[in-house]
Order: sequence, then structure tokens, then C-alpha cells
Amino acid sequence: MLGRLNHVALAVPDLAAAVAAYRNTLGAEVTEPHALPEHGVAVVFVNVGNTKIELLEPLGEGSPIAAFLAKNPSGGMHHLCYEVDDILAARDQLKAAGARVLGDGNPKTGAHGKPVLFLHPKDFFGTLIELEQS
Ligand code: CO
Repeated sequence: MLGRLNHVALAVPDLAAAVAAYRNTLGAEVTEPHALPEHGVAVVFVNVGNTKIELLEPLGEGSPIAAFLAKNPSGGMHHLCYEVDDILAARDQLKAAGARVLGDGNPKTGAHGKPVLFLHPKDFFGTLIELEQS
């Protein structure tokens, strides 16, 4: 089921500062900021060749990363995103195995315009997992 690592996501309190650090200090290629109101975040991607780093900043009221940043005020690793060939088949297989799918269980459109789902971190050793249809 599990395919490539699509990205590692870091929640950051200040996206502009994080972009400057990755672009100027680390010398990385960083995309322009992109608002994802449906997910309550603004996002950029850092291209590191074999995968991407997603930098997330809270957007709007009740952002799903607000609580994470309250606990980790300087930011931190928020989730891993793995690719799957068929997200609905993956969801059904995971639910049958007892894993909890967050939200209403239906895929939303993710930062790459593809369907995504999130799996409960308590079912996967404390790490939030995003699945993205490849
Ligand atoms: Co992500």
C-alpha cells in the first residue's frame, strides 16, 4: 500500500521567517506561499531532490496546527506524507485494520491538488501520517 515519502511537514510560527531561513541560510529552492483555507494553513514547499519539506503556518480561526504550535512554539515536525496508488482502497484497508482516519473519513484536496487523508498519530507511534494519492 505504502509508496514513496512525498514530504515531511514542519509547522512554523512565522512562514516568512522560515522561508528566509531555508532560502537564504540553507540555500534551498522554496516555492511561493500558497493559502489552503480548507486545511487552515498557508504552505510552501522546499525541494530537496529526493523529497520535499512542507512548511506550514496557521491560517484563520481554528487552524488544525494551532494546538501543535501552542505546545511547540518554535515549530516542529508535524507530519509525514506517504503516497498511495488508491486512496479509497488504502482508507478502507486501514479502517478494517482498526486505524483511525481523521475528519469525516473522506479525502480532501491537498496542497498538490490531489486527494489526501490523515491518520491518527496515536495509531502510528506518535506521528501524524498524511496519505496522498499518487
Ligand atoms: Co502535508
